[in-house]
Amino acid sequence: MSRFSKDFFWGGATAANQYEGGVHEGGAGLSTADVMTNGSHTVRRQVTWKKENGETGSTPLCFGSPERHLPEGAVPCELDDPKYYYPSHIASDFYHHYKEDIKLCAEEGFNCLRFSIKWSRLFPNGDDEVPNAEGIKFYADVFDECRKYGIEPLVTLSHYETPLALAAKYNGWDNRHLVNAFVKYARTCFESFAGKVKYYLTFNEINCLDAAPYVTAGLIHADPQNIANAAFHQFLASSLTVKEAHENFSDLKIGMMLAFGPTYAYTTDPEDQLLAQRMMNRTLFYSDVQMLGRYPNYKLKEYERDGITIPAQEGDMDIISKYTCDFLSFSCYGSHVVTYHDEDAQAGEGNGGTQMHMVRNPYLKTNAWGWATDPQCLRITLNTFFDRYHCDLFCVENGIGWNDKFEDGTVHDDYRIDYMRANIKSMRDAVEFDGIPLMGYLYWGCVDMVSNGEGEMAKRYGQIYVDADNYGQGTFKRTVKDSYHWYQKCIASNGEDLD
Ligand code: BG6
Repeated sequence: MSRFSKDFFWGGATAANQYEGGVHEGGAGLSTADVMTNGSHTVRRQVTWKKENGETGSTPLCFGSPERHLPEGAVPCELDDPKYYYPSHIASDFYHHYKEDIKLCAEEGFNCLRFSIKWSRLFPNGDDEVPNAEGIKFYADVFDECRKYGIEPLVTLSHYETPLALAAKYNGWDNRHLVNAFVKYARTCFESFAGKVKYYLTFNEINCLDAAPYVTAGLIHADPQNIANAAFHQFLASSLTVKEAHENFSDLKIGMMLAFGPTYAYTTDPEDQLLAQRMMNRTLFYSDVQMLGRYPNYKLKEYERDGITIPAQEGDMDIISKYTCDFLSFSCYGSHVVTYHDEDAQAGEGNGGTQMHMVRNPYLKTNAWGWATDPQCLRITLNTFFDRYHCDLFCVENGIGWNDKFEDGTVHDDYRIDYMRANIKSMRDAVEFDGIPLMGYLYWGCVDMVSNGEGEMAKRYGQIYVDADNYGQGTFKRTVKDSYHWYQKCIASNGEDLD
């Protein structure tokens, strides 16, 4: 007997700015991701800009950087200078390979594929009067191709990119102007893809706003008040999107999306326990608002202490309270450890090490980028969410980046198989022993794509290899890896066969 439901979603997840390419094709406008340069484990990605007086330059405004502002008067833009390479422009060239990729995923057994829509492909400036018909046609063709194989598309409306014009003109989500522009864009998607798409997510990893305000919300100036404004405007836009769907497109389900990893206390010192709880609340604040419909007291008190105000107008809080999301989706790659006893522990890196009091978990293995694999993290995550929200849950990202070696005409990625085995088992235990209502599991980066944090191809996640290097050079030929065959077997048994 199978432990996962018979309609369990199995598949993979992607994002336009890391996968799609075709940035200058089909009438698309640029997004904030399209002016982010490449980087690496040791070199930070930069945002390129120019000033009215012609001065140009770049600033590290992306993940991992403490920088929060472009220079005064600078606006983000693409620069025609060979010293800058923008990985999103070609990415994995899904724009020209979508038929082949979807077929390979279908043969792997996928019944679900997560994509994001590039808002600026539909509305080049973000708030244009009419949408770009060519952009709509591209996505409609992609979703038709999925349906041909019985694959359910899961569509993220905003995955780490904001139309560039809105960032330059309004400081992105800092400004309320983006709320209506986004709802109009969402409505256009609902109308244009009616019958093709049933599941949408509003904002990818909405809680990463604190760590990367430019990447998540297009802020080119991000003091704490700007970040609070952006969070509020995204909450409001998400609720208005749910309202639009529920009132006019009743077959749609709209989910929220959170980046989550359980936070453990390094010692039994109660101060460490409190610290771990506070760190988790920094993340859960976002799901508390989107699933429970209200700002939690711990956040209101924090805002009060810091002199931060919420830019709510009359009626806004009623909308947020009434139109919570239909399900909670999340990414989970591992866990974090915090302590005040830093001197006794090894400093952390990778996923979270740069934050205060984060240390390495001595019980876990880490990959070359410092990301730890935690075989219990999905079970713990699912229980944390279900205890708090009692709602449907969907793991829409989990995976492992690795500097894969292409040899004997393929990649022998046992490390990826081990990772998936441990994580799927953890999730299966949560369903079997804890009764968690889990909608599905989507492996992140099923086809190799540019990493978000580093902006390089070398950190590969895929079960399908793409022949391209860090600079978009290569044949872009697709080749299946060993993990492809393993996942295919796992899916065929509905998660029973993990050998
Ligand atoms: C998630 C993002 O945080 O992690 C993805 O939603 C990202 O966009 C993924 O690619 C893995 O991170 P990275 O930096 O290794 O690509």
